[in-house]
Amino acid sequence: MWPGGSVFLCVLCVSVVFRVNGRAWCLGGSSDGRGAAILPAMPKGWFITFEGGEGTGKSTQLRLLDDWLRALGHRTVHSREPGGTPLAEAVRAVLLDPALEPDGLSEIFLLEAARHDHVERVVRPAMAAGAVVLCDRFTDSSLVYQGLVRGLGWEEVETLNRLATGGLVPDLTIVLDMDPEVALARAHTRNSEESAREDRLDEEPAEFHRRVREGFLELAGREPDRVRVIAADGPPEKVFARIHPVLPEALR
Ligand code: TYD
Repeated sequence: MWPGGSVFLCVLCVSVVFRVNGRAWCLGGSSDGRGAAILPAMPKGWFITFEGGEGTGKSTQLRLLDDWLRALGHRTVHSREPGGTPLAEAVRAVLLDPALEPDGLSEIFLLEAARHDHVERVVRPAMAAGAVVLCDRFTDSSLVYQGLVRGLGWEEVETLNRLATGGLVPDLTIVLDMDPEVALARAHTRNSEESAREDRLDEEPAEFHRRVREGFLELAGREPDRVRVIAADGPPEKVFARIHPVLPEALR
């Protein structure tokens, strides 16, 4: 009926609930009895994720969007994966420790355990309270890094993502895209400035980063309504100006 949409009957309010691009809407009698209305099915915030290879400027753009949304009066929650809760941050330290080197399957289970904790304790409660949750990486990173590049399989990782998140899908995913060689040079400058950074995955060969880039572009091809590719070259303000037009109308 709608691309990526579905329809079902709500037995609680006797109305038709339809879902378009991850957002639920309710078509039924209005509560004041004055006729039919289309309303959001439940009070709900927004969930926006940032994805892309290393050094593409995700955290800078996330911060710019956070400041901009707050200036407009939106309540925001800024988070990241792996991480975002004490348990998930502990898992992050394990994942990025060069001494541990978990194999592919151990890595995905650690990521999904951290993700489940993060979704249940941070993302869902914040959305239920009406906040805009901004997250640096989410399920799409697992699809690309573990599913595609590490070879665990797209469908397999999709299944694990669904289990870990209870089916939560971002309203919008911004993929920051640029030449990995340029991005990595940027990441290395940043890393040498921040001596405490822990990056096992930054050490991968150029071919790995090229496949990561292709993986995110493939993802955008599969879900063009949700996943928007933004050219990440140029000064941060210029990149942010490219993000602005793809933001949901309701947030602008
Ligand atoms: P991050 O700190 O976002 O790295 P960067 O700032 O360099 O982009 O993420 C840490 C690493 O974890 C990054 O190399 C990507 C990887 N990762 C996965 O492989 N799978 C996942 O599901 C997630 C969330 C991250």
